[in-house]
Amino acid sequence: MNRANPKAVLESIGLSDEPGGSGEVLESINPATGAPQGGIRAVTRDEYDARMAAALKRFDEWRMRPAPKRSDLVRRLGERLREHKDALGELVSLETGKIRAEGLGEVQEMIDICEFAVGLSRQLHGLTIASERPRHRLMEQWHPLGAVGIVTAFNFPVAVWSWNAALAAVCGDVSIWKPSPLTPLSSAAVQAICDRVAREHGAEGVFSLVPGGAHVGEWMCDDRRVPLLSFTGSTAVGRQVSSRVAARLGRSILELGGNNGVIVLDDADVDLAVRAITFGAVGTAGQRCTSTRRLFVQRGVARTLVDRLATAYRTVRIGDPLDPGVLMGPLITRAAVDRFTAAVAAVRAQGGKVFQGGRALDGPGNFVEPTIVLAPAHGAFPIAWEETFAPILYVFEIADLEEALRAHNAVAQGLSSAIFTDSMRAAEQFLSACGSDCGIANVNAGTSGAEIGGAFGGEKDTGGGRESGSDAWKAYMRRQTSTVNWGRELPLAQGIDFL
Ligand code: UN1
Repeated sequence: MNRANPKAVLESIGLSDEPGGSGEVLESINPATGAPQGGIRAVTRDEYDARMAAALKRFDEWRMRPAPKRSDLVRRLGERLREHKDALGELVSLETGKIRAEGLGEVQEMIDICEFAVGLSRQLHGLTIASERPRHRLMEQWHPLGAVGIVTAFNFPVAVWSWNAALAAVCGDVSIWKPSPLTPLSSAAVQAICDRVAREHGAEGVFSLVPGGAHVGEWMCDDRRVPLLSFTGSTAVGRQVSSRVAARLGRSILELGGNNGVIVLDDADVDLAVRAITFGAVGTAGQRCTSTRRLFVQRGVARTLVDRLATAYRTVRIGDPLDPGVLMGPLITRAAVDRFTAAVAAVRAQGGKVFQGGRALDGPGNFVEPTIVLAPAHGAFPIAWEETFAPILYVFEIADLEEALRAHNAVAQGLSSAIFTDSMRAAEQFLSACGSDCGIANVNAGTSGAEIGGAFGGEKDTGGGRESGSDAWKAYMRRQTSTVNWGRELPLAQGIDFL
């Protein structure tokens, strides 16, 4: 049994001031034991307004620092995160129940995005465009946007913040972060690191924390001082966020639910497929947006693959996420266990067969078995059209790629997808315009565990947002089109004569 203690972890990170407010207590519960392990206080409306005002005051100065200078702060943040990687990773495990390797991986994602952002700070570029008018220059510039609101979920309590905040900072924005109320200590630890780094760079207010429940998120939705709100969470809540922000013509980046499928064709490398599917479906106890939930397997390999998956599942040690050798920790709450149990009941009622697992384990802790379900036809199995945030894999037998793609694309969500095949034709079709309809589509690699260098996000009910790498930075800036006339005439566009 591990003896890690969140207080000691927080002290080692140097949390001195209480980064919360004076509102209600947001209690942290260890999902592996059910034991309370401290907490922070939510902000009141006055505190929210004060933090917003301080952030905007900083914005006035921050936006005028050259981007490569702004990156000094982000570089330092990455260095500090590296120093505190073990402690912060452990804290993430204590609050989310993810295993140590995944807690550390989450912090690594933060370090990686900081490094990405530092490089990006010298690459924020616009275009020059050929003007139709003589002695005119037409160009695009990208300017900072203002205060970026960031609302994060329990399952990636710190990495998703960093995808947004590190980019926002080099883009010249300030950010205001409402973390999940289920992971208050991880956000407090990150804020403590940010505060120290910001002080060192005379940049207090670049990163702010506004802990609280849904009402704090609502304040942000309706707050015209927040031109961009980046929201990670369920499709149901994302829908409300989207319409509230749109009502004031604000922008949002939505990272909502996934219902990610893997297609395995007869010619696949089964060893690769087994490992990737097991990590995708069982890793993080099935609580990633990118977790593998649906498997479409061609008839010839179906029996072998399912048997090998079941064998792999039986070797997965479930338990204290900080114990070496454990591969699957608990679900986040008792309510999540109830949703798992309800999904398994629906599986049976809808004609599915539980092939492996299927039970919730006795407490303490919110443990369930990783579960494989042999499903009837996709169109007749509505439980598989929903995202249940638990390690349940629905297996569908398919005749060919066409049938697999039809079922794969039939759901409302569109985040991540994968195909396992050695056929170049099949792989290319999967990646083509008539292939996977998801924001992420992989060949011979699983649905979860995306690198930060690519743009992350998905289509349809996943919300359409893109974060992290590639050109996702553009969402954090405002585009300005400028025409400069360096001649002595005033030619008008479209050849118009006037005056
Ligand atoms: C999420 O589940 O919200 O691709 C994010 C992945 C991780 C991020 C997941 N890099 O699985």
